[in-house]
Order: sequence, then C-alpha cells, then structure tokens
Amino acid sequence: MPHIAYVNGQYVPQSTAMVHIEDRGYQFADGIYEVCVVVNGCYWDMDGHLVRMQRSLSELEMDAPMDMRALKVVMGEVVRRNRLKDALVYMQVTRGVAPRNHAFPPEGTAPSLVITARRFDFDQSDVKANHGIAVISQPDIRWGRVDIKTVGLLPNALAKEAATKAGAAEAILVRDGVVTECSASNAWIVDETGAIVTHPKTNEILGGITRQTAIACAEELQIKVIERPFTLEEAKAAPEAFLTSATSFVMPIISIDGTRIGSGKPGPVALRLREAYKACAAKG
Ligand code: PDD
Repeated sequence: MPHIAYVNGQYVPQSTAMVHIEDRGYQFADGIYEVCVVVNGCYWDMDGHLVRMQRSLSELEMDAPMDMRALKVVMGEVVRRNRLKDALVYMQVTRGVAPRNHAFPPEGTAPSLVITARRFDFDQSDVKANHGIAVISQPDIRWGRVDIKTVGLLPNALAKEAATKAGAAEAILVRDGVVTECSASNAWIVDETGAIVTHPKTNEILGGITRQTAIACAEELQIKVIERPFTLEEAKAAPEAFLTSATSFVMPIISIDGTRIGSGKPGPVALRLREAYKACAAKG
C-alpha cells in the first residue's frame, strides 16, 4: 500500500507528491511545522500542537491554510488512509508559491499545506528509554526566534549529524555556557534536591508541548519544577538528565560528551515522569 500524503487539497501517493519550485518553504525556509504522535488511534497533546501552530503562523504574519477544526479532520484522514494505529504526523505550512522575492508575496497568496504520516514504533521508544541515551554538546548557532517552529532547521540538522557521527542520539545545544535545549527536543536536569530544571520559555528555546505537559505531570507528582538556565557543567554533574519531545516523550540521558550522568542508568525521576506523561497524554 503506498504512503498517502495530503498536499494542498489532495490526497496523493507520497512517492509522486510534489511542491512547486517557487514555494517559499523551498526558497526561503518561509514555513512552519508541527509534529505530533497518534498512539492507539488517539492523538497525544493535539490541541497543544495546534495552539502552537497558530502562534507560529501569527508570529510570522502567515495565513492559516484552513481553520483548526478542518485541519483536525484532514490529519485524521491522513492517518486513516495510511491505516496507522500508532503514527507520527507531520504538518507543514508555508507562505505559498510566488516569484522569488524576499518580501512577502501579494496578499491572498494561498499558503501551502502538506501533511504526512508514518508508523511510530511505540514499543521501541520504551526499549530506548529503559536503556537511556547518550548525547553530545554542540554550540547553539541558531537565530534569535527559535520559539517559532520554522522549517529553517539547518543548525539543528548539523548538530544532530554531529551527534550521529559521534554515536550519540541527540545534541544538547549550548550558548555562552548555558544549555538552551537539544537539536529536536527540550533539555532537563534533576538537581540535588530532586527538583527538575529546564530553561525558561524564552525566544531562545522552542516551547515544547511535551515540556508543557511534563510540567503539569510533575506538579501532579509533587515534583518541584524550576525554570531557570543551567550550564553544561551543571548538567554533567547532575544526578539525572533527560529530554522531552513529542516523539521521545520523556527520554533519560545517561551520558553527555562521554561523561556518565548519575549512575549511568536511566534515573528514577525521569522514568517516573515518563510513565506519568504517557498516562496523562493518553487521556488526551
Ligand atoms: N521536535 N525543541 C526543538 C528544537 C524541537 O524541534 C522540538 C520538537 C522540541 C520539543 O517540542 P515538542 O515537545 O512540542 O515536540 C524542542 C520535533 C519532534 C521534530 O522536529 O521532529
């Protein structure tokens, strides 16, 4: 069965799906995206992702391709047509097609919308979490508005490639000694008191939807949450570290740049929070 994508109003086989060469996403990375997962037929944190999508669009003065209710229907249809129970759904909106010119195209230019879905291996994610992951540090060379989820991801891609070459699963990004986040996830540590610490929600990080739900879960578990900058040195000396994202949930980190974190095994706080996050996200 071919993979089916939604492209500007049509459901088409992914192998033949195309976008125009003058699409502004292709020319200028003038587009935004969202990634969310479907587990056992249910979207996790869908509303949070759609709210953030609307914010990304409005920060860039970009029109929404359709209203959010219609978008939910199309997302569901893409998953259905691909016969997926556990899926990773990718949505991308760009400022549309126009002759190449840096300034915005004329008002009324239709935004482009692409939605794809592929199988998400839920069990494999748990296997990975029970083992924990290694990360390396990389300089955070991104622009000043990474709070907007744009498709301009070259620095993220370079950092992830460096991690992959080093045999690590993710790159932790560092600016002026401070850990901002990771190449495709938010970064956290556990401090000596058992509180969980993550960078405040500023223009220097993407406000993760999983981060937001994890904060709510932690509060329910009576784990103290501290939103403050922390250094790479502090992270390496922390009893635990972990990351969060829609596709990783809560993922324990067992080493940074080869330095063992805590016991070198997934920490109890991260594992507890992971279970709580899964239970909470599954409720919708
Ligand atoms: N990445 N920070 C960055 C730079 C990200 O790209 C992501 C998500 C996050 C976590 O956000 P959320 O919890 O809403 O997934 C933080 C997605 C998964 C991706 O690009 O594939």
